Amino acid sequence: MTPQTSLAARTAEQQTSPDLQWWRDAVVYQVYPRSFADSDGDGMGDLPGVTARLPYLRDLGVDAIWLSPFYTSPQKDGGYDVSDYQDVDPRFGSLSDADEMIARAHELGLKVIVDIVPNHSSDQHVLFQQALAAGPGSPERDMYVFADGKGENGELPPNNWTSIFHGQAWTRITEADGTPGQWYLHIFDTSQPDWNWENPRVHELFQDVLRFWLDRGADGFRVDVAHGMIKPEGLPDATVNSAGLIDIPEGEVPIYFDNDGVLDIYREWRPILDSYEGDRMMVLEAWIPEHRLPLYIGDEKAHQSFNFGFLQARWGVETMRAAIEKPLALADAVGSPTTWVLSNHDVIRHASRYGFAPDYEFGEGLRRDEIPDAELGLRRARAATLLMLSLPGSAYLYQGEELGLPEVSDIPDELREDPSHLRAGVPGRDGCRVPLPWTQDAPGYGFSPTGKSWLPQPEAFGPLAADAQDGVEGSTLEMYRTAVHLRRELGLGRPDAAVVFAEDLPAGVLGVIRGDVTILVNTTDAQVELPASSVAGDLASAEVLVASAPTSPGTVPADTAVWLRTS
Ligand code: GLC
Repeated sequence: MTPQTSLAARTAEQQTSPDLQWWRDAVVYQVYPRSFADSDGDGMGDLPGVTARLPYLRDLGVDAIWLSPFYTSPQKDGGYDVSDYQDVDPRFGSLSDADEMIARAHELGLKVIVDIVPNHSSDQHVLFQQALAAGPGSPERDMYVFADGKGENGELPPNNWTSIFHGQAWTRITEADGTPGQWYLHIFDTSQPDWNWENPRVHELFQDVLRFWLDRGADGFRVDVAHGMIKPEGLPDATVNSAGLIDIPEGEVPIYFDNDGVLDIYREWRPILDSYEGDRMMVLEAWIPEHRLPLYIGDEKAHQSFNFGFLQARWGVETMRAAIEKPLALADAVGSPTTWVLSNHDVIRHASRYGFAPDYEFGEGLRRDEIPDAELGLRRARAATLLMLSLPGSAYLYQGEELGLPEVSDIPDELREDPSHLRAGVPGRDGCRVPLPWTQDAPGYGFSPTGKSWLPQPEAFGPLAADAQDGVEGSTLEMYRTAVHLRRELGLGRPDAAVVFAEDLPAGVLGVIRGDVTILVNTTDAQVELPASSVAGDLASAEVLVASAPTSPGTVPADTAVWLRTS
């Protein structure tokens, strides 16, 4: 297998041409620093751990890494509660560790995307502490969204908004003189107060944060809750349904998301990114209605936004085809390639999701008694991954999916850390955040030199460890390596190359034609025979480039994807 060198090989001149901007067809690997690799033995991953494993990512063939937050943080929401945006949390190392990690990544030809969390900070941020100490109406308090309560003595929250993590979105403070005081808004946990983006000083603060990381060599930003920040004027109540719950019509978002003012923030940030050499980019985590996407993306706005429709699509030809066609049409409309993603640190891992019936109603995380068919789940997950990696645009992988890791559902409640679990008792997202297994026979599967791990690793992780799959034909790791490299060689990620659906295939088979490569996904539970004559050419005798399960000539087994070369 040839090592991934294509990015390094691109010249500076090429990188300024839109056709070759790296992010347009990149494979980006998400690192969740707490759970990737621990170098100092405290059971919590860290930046030196990431640096040490960068050659593994280079060999996997990815173009870039995106790191979830590693900034100073009380870790009430896994680091998405930032108390200093310009420093590294001691649990993860130091600023010089960050510099080293970025430099080493660049040496290996890997770009580095860092997370920026502009909707809220930690309640331990010095500016929030100052806001608490200063009185109502002070400039300090104006950095966050404070409001007087309703009711005779301000004892009721300013409006009826609820938090994404359950419960109300407001918390009342005690003023410096000991009296019950104003309320502050937190769309997420109480430990995550929302910044007041009506205040120009908040804009300045984040411009500085962008420059700080761009100066240190960051190639881009993943913008957290990118549709948040601007709240509707006057902070009006949301409409409630007959059950008294906030009414969010299908396909819509809560009242505090996706307000037009947020678009100005990207117009303000874009020239900052453009003023740096290289193609610095931003990818938005924006859960917004599709028709709103063109407002966020463009030459003077953000570069890309996550497309979560593919992740949400259920197993089946129609559902998956629709989840490909829609974003491709949108990408054409906005002039920016789409992104593909099947797993991340917020959702149930796809190796487990696909192990449930296609119409299964998922909650927030998996409960102990929700047991997927692990074999079927992994089999379909591998097929879905091959489909994803064959599509034009950029693909985002989540650490551990290349090992076929399942969601862990039996974490003892007292060890769970997700604020949703602590606030509402739902299982939450810890099940996809369990530290990675690197070495089958080492304590803690090689995650940490002491064997410690901030969440317990299940025994099922042992045989899935990276060293147990390395060089093993047919392993999930080798399938990812082959597919990621082939994707580059065959130019499948190139946004300008056409996607044609093959209509004349056996029932239950999805076919995508990309030039002389045809990608087939057999979504049925029986093997299919391939036709010698079809719009895609002679599939019966086509060369198999990569398959998600062992195949015999002219056939595709149940729940399997193949890439075929037809001429
Ligand atoms: C984003 C992050 C998630 C975090 C939330 C609040 O959705 O992906 O992990 O909890 O924002 O910052």
